Formats: sequence, C-alpha cells, structure tokens
Amino acid sequence: MAKILDRDQFADVQQATRQHLRQHGCGAYTFEDGLALTALSGWKRPQRVLELGTALGYTACCLAHGCASARVDTIEGDATHVALAREQIARHALTHRIAVHHGQFDEILGQLEAGYDLAFFDGFAPPPPIIARVRDLLAIGGILVCANLQLGRGSAARQLAQDLDDASRWQDLASIESGRTAVRLKLNAE
Ligand SMILES: C[S@@+](CC[C@H](N)C(=O)[O-])C[C@H]1O[C@@H](n2cnc3c(N)ncnc32)[C@H](O)[C@@H]1O
Repeated sequence: MAKILDRDQFADVQQATRQHLRQHGCGAYTFEDGLALTALSGWKRPQRVLELGTALGYTACCLAHGCASARVDTIEGDATHVALAREQIARHALTHRIAVHHGQFDEILGQLEAGYDLAFFDGFAPPPPIIARVRDLLAIGGILVCANLQLGRGSAARQLAQDLDDASRWQDLASIESGRTAVRLKLNAE
C-alpha cells in the first residue's frame, strides 16, 4: 500500500519532544513511527489533514511532508506545547501548511469544517465520542489513523474497539506501530 521510506526528516523534532517530556513531565509521548505516517500520507495524497495531539509538531510535520499539497489542522491543549510546536514547524518551513489550534479537542473539533481526507488521533486513550466526531469530519473514503489503542480501559475501550471493528462502516486497511495504531477507511456517512 504505502511506500517504505528510510530517512526521517523530522528526527530532530522527535528527539526534541523526548527531551521536552523528560524536563516537563507532561504527556508529550512522541509517536514512534513517523515514517509510516509520511508513507500513508504519500499514498492517500490528502488535501486536508486533521490531527489531535500536536505535542511539539513531529507527526504534523511527517503528515505534511508526505503530500506537498496537504494542509494540516492540528489540535493541542497545552500552551507550552503549542508555542514549541510553532517554533519547530517554522524551523522546518512548514508554517504555511500546518495550523496549530490551541484548545481542547472537543472545543476545537466543533469549530472545524467537515471534509478531511485523513485524520490522526494521538492524544491519550482515544475517547469514543471524540472519535465519533472525528468520523463525522472525515469525508467518505477518508482515512482514520488511531493511535494509543492500548491505553484505553473498561467500557470506553470496548466501545471503541467495537466501533472501529464495524465492517459496515469502516474498511480495515492495516495497522502500524506494531498493531497499536489502527488504520481505517470511512465507507459511508452512517
Ligand atoms: C501523545 S502526545 C502527541 C504526540 C505527537 N503527535 C508526536 O508524535 O510527537 C499527546 C498530546 O495531546 C495533548 N492532549 C491530550 N489530550 C488533549 C485534549 N483533550 N485536548 C487537547 N490536547 C490534548 C497533550 O498535551 C499532548 O501534547
């Protein structure tokens, strides 16, 4: 499906995120497989990308890099992360293609227009109502990439697994990050 890439252009941002996490003691755990995201973006050629969980901007840069015409809307609640992400994104000359929205996921999602071609969830455990809203914002044929599936617990995790495994609504494309990140294609508006 997606082309295999072997050089991570944004390894410096990933490294800065790991260092920041050690100092800040926050939730900015960087995604492990940015190359897989870049490859997915290169395969899908999204014009509009939505990301939940910017941290320092590593995965937003990876997604933008995969498709030169893609515009990324990324959401982050921590003001320090927002400032650092904007710096990293500017250093990589991607400011014109990545908009960092400062606020909580539920608040910002309510302000965005539907029609995204690719959405990436990388907050903590994915809450089913947030993933349902992300689904609404995806175009039919759009791709949901949902990380941190192993972090969910109890009924919310069970409900999410059930939602994502509903073959009448999603086509299962693959998984990345050794199965911890689901990749699904939205089949219809239901
Ligand atoms: C796992 S990190 C994202 C890592 C980033 N995608 C990367 O690979 O470098 C999750 C980020 O989501 C933010 N976050 C978590 N829950 C949030 C919420 N409900 N609203 C807004 N931001 C949130 C955290 O502050 C954190 O920076």
